[in-house]
Amino acid sequence: MPAVKTTYLCQQCGAASPKWAGQCPSCSAWNTLVETIAAPRVAGRPRSAARAVAGSAPVSPIGDITSAEATRLSSGIGEVDRVLGGGFVPGSIILIGGDPGIGKSTLLLQLAARVASAGGNALYVTAEESASQVRGRAERIGGVVPGLDLAATTDLETALAAVESVSPALAVVDSVQTITSPDLGGPAGSVGQVREVASRLAEVAKAGQTCIALVGHVTKEGTVAGPRTLEHLVDAVIYLEGERLGSTRLLRAAKNRFGSTDEVGVLEMRGDGLAEVDDASRFFLESEEAPTAGSAVTIALEGTRPLAVEIQALSAAASYGSPRRATTGIDTNRVLMLIAVLARHAGLNLTGHDVYVNVAGGLRIDEPAADLAIATALASSLRERPVRRGTVLAGEVALSGRLRTAVRADRRLAEARRLGFDRLITGPARGATDRSAASGLIVAATIREALDATLES
Ligand code: TYD
Ligand code: MG
Repeated sequence: MPAVKTTYLCQQCGAASPKWAGQCPSCSAWNTLVETIAAPRVAGRPRSAARAVAGSAPVSPIGDITSAEATRLSSGIGEVDRVLGGGFVPGSIILIGGDPGIGKSTLLLQLAARVASAGGNALYVTAEESASQVRGRAERIGGVVPGLDLAATTDLETALAAVESVSPALAVVDSVQTITSPDLGGPAGSVGQVREVASRLAEVAKAGQTCIALVGHVTKEGTVAGPRTLEHLVDAVIYLEGERLGSTRLLRAAKNRFGSTDEVGVLEMRGDGLAEVDDASRFFLESEEAPTAGSAVTIALEGTRPLAVEIQALSAAASYGSPRRATTGIDTNRVLMLIAVLARHAGLNLTGHDVYVNVAGGLRIDEPAADLAIATALASSLRERPVRRGTVLAGEVALSGRLRTAVRADRRLAEARRLGFDRLITGPARGATDRSAASGLIVAATIREALDATLES
């Protein structure tokens, strides 16, 4: 073993200290020192190819360089390709984050199996489960295919050696928190370890044609092992989200060097793994039966993707004490605000009523354009009058009771039409005086006007 020296690098100012301290001696920031290896691990082995050729930097005409687009590798699942920006990029490293139990291992085993079935080699390094556990899951998802290799190890050097010897098109490392480098002190999953594991794997990915997918558990704070620790080291960060008990899973890119971060992929957890849903936009509509009171549909924009989403509200006379307000999939404060606007500007008093609001299908909606549908669902429940058939709503509600249009109203209207709705109720565009909008687009100035146009009499 070569001599290994450990130093502590400040994540903020980059200063090195020989020993750990709570506060950086150089920039005085707190909790920013991270254990790092100072000396090269193996004599004669450069940390990166770029450094090895320093002095004879590899320069090529831009026209001679193959673009990442040309060599993308399909993941075999359209919704995943969509979020990746068209497929895996050879020589890149991506991080798939998500809560424990959400389906990361399942998804990546499926992707590895698809890549292998399509003729590329795939390697699945499991550091959390035994090889036979992974084999069991592979049977369940139809992933026992030629070209897919398994390696069970928690040791970084062994994992690196496996990737280098197989040189697969796709290598999955599950998970970054359970692989450790013996060169580094600190337990598995510590910030120093996680950084070391990710940066060594990144070097191997960049040196060859392998795309490495790292699995990471999201911490309670919502970041993968320490703020910004991994995000900088990888090319893309993709989160798998969803309610654990529900079956809907959303894939979202938080960072993507090779594509947009606007795309969202919709998947459904089934008995044989994660599957694409047939018509993602229709997926969040509960039913196509006769309209019922307390339900309103909005066209939400998830990134650039329009999704028809049903908002359900229930108001019931509260029996005693202060009434309950419970929401799933939307911010409770937004609902409280809309309840106040309805009371003040539409004569709808929900004081003394318990109020429940849900987004169907386990989706979470944060955009203000959902306001109008939430307010309408509440009004519809209180008045016991359903929303007129064929109507969708998208618009922001101001405290004054006035409405504002939703961004990309045209796009939402087009999606509404595709799904068989014929009217989109929205607010006026800022500064617009012309009310004669595109056919099917109904512009209401206030919440009261919108409710008159929306609820059945
Ligand atoms: P898993 O991939 O182990 O989650 P993670 O790696 O993110 O911790 O998925 C665990 C859950 O998925 C588990 O509760 C069972 C469920 N599941 C299915 O519903 N269908 C399947 O085909 C598989 C393999 C798992
Ligand atoms: Mg797992």
